[in-house]
Amino acid sequence: MKIIGFSAGGVGRESNVDRMVKAILDKSGHDVEFVKLTELNFSGCKGCVQLCARPQVCQLADDAQPYYQKVKEADAVVIGTPVYFGDITSTAWSFIERFFGYRHVDIPIAGKPFVTVVGGAMTLGPAVEHLHKMLGAFEVNLIDTVRFESKVPPCFKCGRHKECEIGGLYMMLGDAAKELTITKEMFTRWEDDSATVDAIDAAAEKLKKI
Ligand SMILES: Cc1cc2nc3c(=O)[nH]c(=O)nc-3n(C[C@H](O)[C@H](O)[C@H](O)COP(=O)(O)O)c2cc1C
Repeated sequence: MKIIGFSAGGVGRESNVDRMVKAILDKSGHDVEFVKLTELNFSGCKGCVQLCARPQVCQLADDAQPYYQKVKEADAVVIGTPVYFGDITSTAWSFIERFFGYRHVDIPIAGKPFVTVVGGAMTLGPAVEHLHKMLGAFEVNLIDTVRFESKVPPCFKCGRHKECEIGGLYMMLGDAAKELTITKEMFTRWEDDSATVDAIDAAAEKLKKI
């Protein structure tokens, strides 16, 4: 069995979403491949549907293109995204938008098991719903979803939170945000949250059984 996993986690460090996707893949016990979408250069669908209609796989030539055939051939897919602006990231959106290549006359990925992973500072619901709505267009079999509320706003990394009254940290704490010293321990990790660890194990267990 071959499982391919994609993460739209942030670059520059190993993100929670990256590590969640990797953990599900590794614990599944299958032959796996991990792809970090934010390290690829690619765009969303450009509407050249006359090109993908017959092969039923996206033909847009860029870094993402080889992975559409791999999704078609995989026995299951894991896809993860952080929450940006209350929604899935544009990276994840662009990647899934090009699944449109599959959607002509019939849907070769219909029924394929998918696990979704969403990580965000606080409000994950709308992003999960949107992700599932997009995947629903391809009639995939959504076997599980793992969510992790990191409580990590981008302000923890930006270095300017003490002078800022518009960022997520200020929204969360008000003026107290300006006094806050950011420490390594404040970058919460899903591995320290037992509910998320259990959810990762449960998702991997479901993949084990495919
Ligand atoms: C541009 C940007 C916008 C963000 N917007 C939100 C948001 O609307 N809601 C939220 O809960 N978190 C938001 N975040 C925080 C990330 O979702 C959060 O830090 C997440 O844990 C990052 O995941 P990663 O470590 O896997 O990259 C935003 C982060 C960035 C960089």
